Amino acid sequence: MNILILGSGGREHALAWKLSQSKKVSRIFTGPGNAGTAMIGTNLGIDPCNFDQVKRAVIDNKAGMVVVGPEAPLVAGIHDFFLSDNVLKDIPVIGPDMSAARLEGSKDFAKGFLVRHKIPTAVYRTFTKSEAGGVRHFLKTLQSPYVVKADGLAAGKGVLIIDNIDEAENEVYSILDGKFDKAGNKVVVEQFLKGVELSVFIITDGKSWKLLPEAKDYKRVGAGDTGLNTGGMGGVSPVPFAGKEFMEKVKTRIIDPTMMGLVEEGITYKGFLFFGLINSGGDPFVIEFNARLGDPESEVIIPRIRSDLFDLLEGVAAGDLSERTLVTDDRFVTTVMLVSGGYPGSFEKGKVISGIDKTSDCVVFHAGTKIDGNKVVTSGGRVMAVSSWGGTMPEALRGSYRNIALISFENMYYRKDIGFDL
Ligand code: AMP
Ligand code: GLY
Repeated sequence: MNILILGSGGREHALAWKLSQSKKVSRIFTGPGNAGTAMIGTNLGIDPCNFDQVKRAVIDNKAGMVVVGPEAPLVAGIHDFFLSDNVLKDIPVIGPDMSAARLEGSKDFAKGFLVRHKIPTAVYRTFTKSEAGGVRHFLKTLQSPYVVKADGLAAGKGVLIIDNIDEAENEVYSILDGKFDKAGNKVVVEQFLKGVELSVFIITDGKSWKLLPEAKDYKRVGAGDTGLNTGGMGGVSPVPFAGKEFMEKVKTRIIDPTMMGLVEEGITYKGFLFFGLINSGGDPFVIEFNARLGDPESEVIIPRIRSDLFDLLEGVAAGDLSERTLVTDDRFVTTVMLVSGGYPGSFEKGKVISGIDKTSDCVVFHAGTKIDGNKVVTSGGRVMAVSSWGGTMPEALRGSYRNIALISFENMYYRKDIGFDL
């Protein structure tokens, strides 16, 4: 079968890399993809949120399945678009429909869902413009720091953690006044939870689910988790503190009630579901849901899947996931993201990347790269993720860093302390 993967990051390269290993997969198309996906299959110059372009790409390339990497097309209803189109309705889309993708697309919906199903999460209240008069009163019931979130998708910038109560109140007003456009028609204000974060993933066909490897990502740009937030600077899997006892709590207190809640609310969720959790004093709390895999989490969890990923995706599409097998690799995988100097602020593009061909015993997953003539050049902030395996976390990290030393481009930057806290 031919497959179309939508997206252009390290996550999509990791999906293409893994799916290309399946005997059942013939050709892989990625739209728009990057230099890494171009080496595995064919890149298509399409925008994942332009559904007419996606439709043309599916028909022209005889794709039998579409795997959606990022959240925007899911929240915009790509799954529903396929179901309602006579030509596309039998082509499975791996990723939830619009109703299910609200778990990521609306923080207010997600918080309401968590509370309805008694799933542990931070105390919160949602405010619209007409209710904003109550913000101060609610903030006074919480302790500093305060967490303020735009309801909708805001390109990863919609969450603010603020120490001062006046600033928090003002931030709520400025979001309601349009700071994040329509994404801020509602604002969620919630209690700050202290603890270590981890990312837990499942794959589900809407009836049964399977636990994928968990991961921890490093979001801050600077060593020791300092500086600005980024899309993610590196990751590790497994997460040492997520032992048997903790993961049992995750299953019984979080995953099971989420899956039962979806069924109760008549929502059929098909695809990957990402639980952004915080371990607060040994107990898991939900910080957010995402309707997709994480990035750079994908670059550590996909290499830990030993089974045929296409077989699992077929199970999602056919609704018989419970009959498929998922075997994971016990070894550690670490990834370190190489970024353009200046990221997440302004940075230059078009820098020639050298040395990838000298790497060994690792996988280099491309993110912001493109092919320019016969060279691979940078085309984004996060450029590539270097993933390595090891019997221990330090061994895997040594592999990532040994290979990074062989790669170079002008103004290349990366964190040298991935895994420092574990
Ligand atoms: P979100 O987009 O909801 O994942 O929020 C982005 C980041 O903000 C999370 O990864 C956390 O680091 C942080 N965050 C969000 N909500 C909370 C909370 N209630 N307590 C502590 N940190 C939070
Ligand atoms: N690494 C976090 C995310 O993909 O949202």
